[in-house]
Amino acid sequence: MSQNDPGALYSQHLGEMIRRADTALARAGFDHLVVPSGTLHYQVFDDRDYPYAVNPQFKTWLPLTRLPYSWLIHTPGERPTLVFYQPFDYWHVVPDAPSGWWVEHFDIHIIRKPEEALALLPADPSRCAILGEPQSTLGGFAPNNPPAVINHLEWHRGCKTPYEIALMRQAQVHAVRGHRAAEAAFRAGASEFEIHMAYCSAVGQDANELPYGNIIALNEHAAVLHYTELGRNAPQPSRSFLIDAGASAHGYASDITRTYAAAGHDEFQALVDAVDAAQIRMCQAVRAGFDYRQLHVDAHLSLMGVLKDFGVINVSPETALATGVSAAFFPHGIGHLIGAQVHDVAGFAAGENGGRIERPDGHPYLRLTRVLEPGMTVTIEPGLYFIDMLLDEVKQAGNAASINWERVDFFRPYGGIRIEDEVLCTDGEADNLTRPVFAAAG
Ligand code: GLY
Ligand code: MN
Ligand code: MN
Repeated sequence: MSQNDPGALYSQHLGEMIRRADTALARAGFDHLVVPSGTLHYQVFDDRDYPYAVNPQFKTWLPLTRLPYSWLIHTPGERPTLVFYQPFDYWHVVPDAPSGWWVEHFDIHIIRKPEEALALLPADPSRCAILGEPQSTLGGFAPNNPPAVINHLEWHRGCKTPYEIALMRQAQVHAVRGHRAAEAAFRAGASEFEIHMAYCSAVGQDANELPYGNIIALNEHAAVLHYTELGRNAPQPSRSFLIDAGASAHGYASDITRTYAAAGHDEFQALVDAVDAAQIRMCQAVRAGFDYRQLHVDAHLSLMGVLKDFGVINVSPETALATGVSAAFFPHGIGHLIGAQVHDVAGFAAGENGGRIERPDGHPYLRLTRVLEPGMTVTIEPGLYFIDMLLDEVKQAGNAASINWERVDFFRPYGGIRIEDEVLCTDGEADNLTRPVFAAAG
């Protein structure tokens, strides 16, 4: 069986989804799992629909991301059923007839109108765990989202199947193609908008298909963590470039960040290189049994070591962490689970039956507090930024003397640095999904 061929791995994945669903239904006391793919949503007082986003509970079963008004039905002991909506419609392109590696595993029923699904759903809605959003309600089938079912399914989604990992590897390959094109556009003097277009073109995905909005930030814009403005004019000069951009593969995400210095900006390049080297070490710390909260705290210390080396702070990393100075330079979490959703679910889950592992005090933006297990895919995304609002808070807290403000003034025009890879936790060494793809791309 090929390690990277999703078609060859799908049947094992589906078997795992069925096992999880069977256990969840038995524990919660339901007879059927019913998952609507979701509906189109319309803008208020308008006939324009928002970009369709498939129900993530649906796309973990099926590689179908553009199939609204469809339903997955699973009854333990039976073949799963797919109610496949393929309207007669000459206004829009309708979904192709079912095809692909998944088809042979399902009983498929084509419907032409959404309400035709009713005759194909189980007889008694009260016996169904129905996972979805309220707008998907059809007749008596209103999503009830039983916590016992959701908690179980979402907890187990933390560990990816080989099929999911194969798709995530594909998503890396797509995104790296875009990152290479984006770097070339930056070096040619392009604007943020032009870089974004070069990225989408190289990936072959537009904004609605990408797993999240591209962050394409030149110069000071890199200090805005979720900068998505896409300036139409290239700054004169472009000194630095931060790109946080992913790609999708059959509904699975990549989420990659790189930071570049323009030629001649050697000191900023050296700071980027130092963060890059620290990030590689953090990726290597992804090991089964390691607490991700510790990885986050260790990242603070490592990044403050970099700032100390570059003369930006005057205190030890430990002091910078204890006084909140480090949070002014590194104000987000070290990363998150990733999979069918870029910020994948159950990052705080204490177990398959629910419960929550809180964030450490003073770290309000960490999105993952679990102990790492083989099969988990996480991002590792340390950053250093020069954000006046946060640096002012350091002054107000009486810690201005911890910082060398001339060095801040020197680096502020570059905005900031973030380096982000996906890492698979294994039984042994960490498997960095991103770096080998950049290396192979040359
Ligand atoms: N692109 C959003 C994130 O890195 O989490
Ligand atoms: Mn990112
Ligand atoms: Mn991320």
